Amino acid sequence: MVGWFSKMVVATTVRMPKWFVRWVSRRYVAGATLDEAVAVMKRLTSEGACFTIDVLGEEISTMDEANFFLEEYIRVMQAIKQNGLDANISIKPTAFGLLIDPVLGLQNIRKLVQMAAEENMFVRLDMEDHRVTSDTIEVVITLHNEGLTNVGTVLQGRLFRTLADIGDLETALGPHADYRICKGIYLEPEEISFTAYQDIVDGTNAAIDRMFAAGAYVGVASHDIPVIEHTLSALKAHKMGPGLDDQRPNAGPPRHHKGPGYEFQMLLGVRGPLRRRLLKEGHRTRVYIPYGEKWYEYSIRRLKENPTIGTQVAKAFLMPWTNRP
Ligand code: FDA
Repeated sequence: MVGWFSKMVVATTVRMPKWFVRWVSRRYVAGATLDEAVAVMKRLTSEGACFTIDVLGEEISTMDEANFFLEEYIRVMQAIKQNGLDANISIKPTAFGLLIDPVLGLQNIRKLVQMAAEENMFVRLDMEDHRVTSDTIEVVITLHNEGLTNVGTVLQGRLFRTLADIGDLETALGPHADYRICKGIYLEPEEISFTAYQDIVDGTNAAIDRMFAAGAYVGVASHDIPVIEHTLSALKAHKMGPGLDDQRPNAGPPRHHKGPGYEFQMLLGVRGPLRRRLLKEGHRTRVYIPYGEKWYEYSIRRLKENPTIGTQVAKAFLMPWTNRP
């Protein structure tokens, strides 16, 4: 249930002038241009972080709009190479047309994944709301079956279906299964998802356990202490961690610039001290870097989709000691 404070923050923010929203979102969005995103990554490289880059924008209304994303992501891959960045890319399948035309959407995504494969680069398909969960997973399985193994999806701990999805992906992809696991940002209907905080944490941790047990590559995307602590315990149990060889029986040589079987992932601007602590302890830690002209629409849409973000952002500003960038 969303509290009155979150609703109030959202109602207030959407009425604020654009400059104010920009000022607030500056911490979470690397900028409007690719150059600004590169500058942010160069700065954070000194911490030892690696990155995944997201061009802002989501569902499109005509297939022509997908071309913009295709071209922009090609520029992103060139920039990663030219600047020697330790980075891969994250894409929103609906921005490539998956909801309008699944066949053309798959074609667009395939083009990008093929180009990334030539650079030994990984492509993460962000997971959007439940309308595209099955189609997104299907895209990953199809591309793997075609020999493109440099692509993986995100699963959401809040969804009831997630453990079954891990089972299906395990069967289909075997040792090449490579996940990002997060709680899930979309407030989904209670018929298909957990809605209480503890249930969502438990669902996320259960998915993490299942992924490790199956020997998959696990990217844990969370800033929440109970999820991070759970992951650290799971690593210990599986004899994985900084300085240790990848113990997974099916590991093989490291691919696509990945870590020893796992990594932590965090959003730009959120819980910097925790990120730096994990990096200092030697854990591969990836920062999600969103940028793009659509920063305003992105910020407002995210707030409306999940008003609890409003509370977190307000808390970060009003009580900065709880959440430094
Ligand atoms: P929780 O929401 O409890 O946050 C823990 C603490 O972290 C908060 O108390 C606050 O201090 C801080 N915090 C978290 N989010 C914040 C924010 N936005 N602003 C300010 N402070 C914040 N979701 C999805 O559905 N599909 C996806 O593909 C992805 N991809 C993704 C990539 C990466 C790298 C991350 C880190 C997250 C995602 N997510 C996502 C979002 C994810 O599902 C989830 O909504 C957020 O990470 C928040 O959940 P936490 O586990 O961090 O816990």
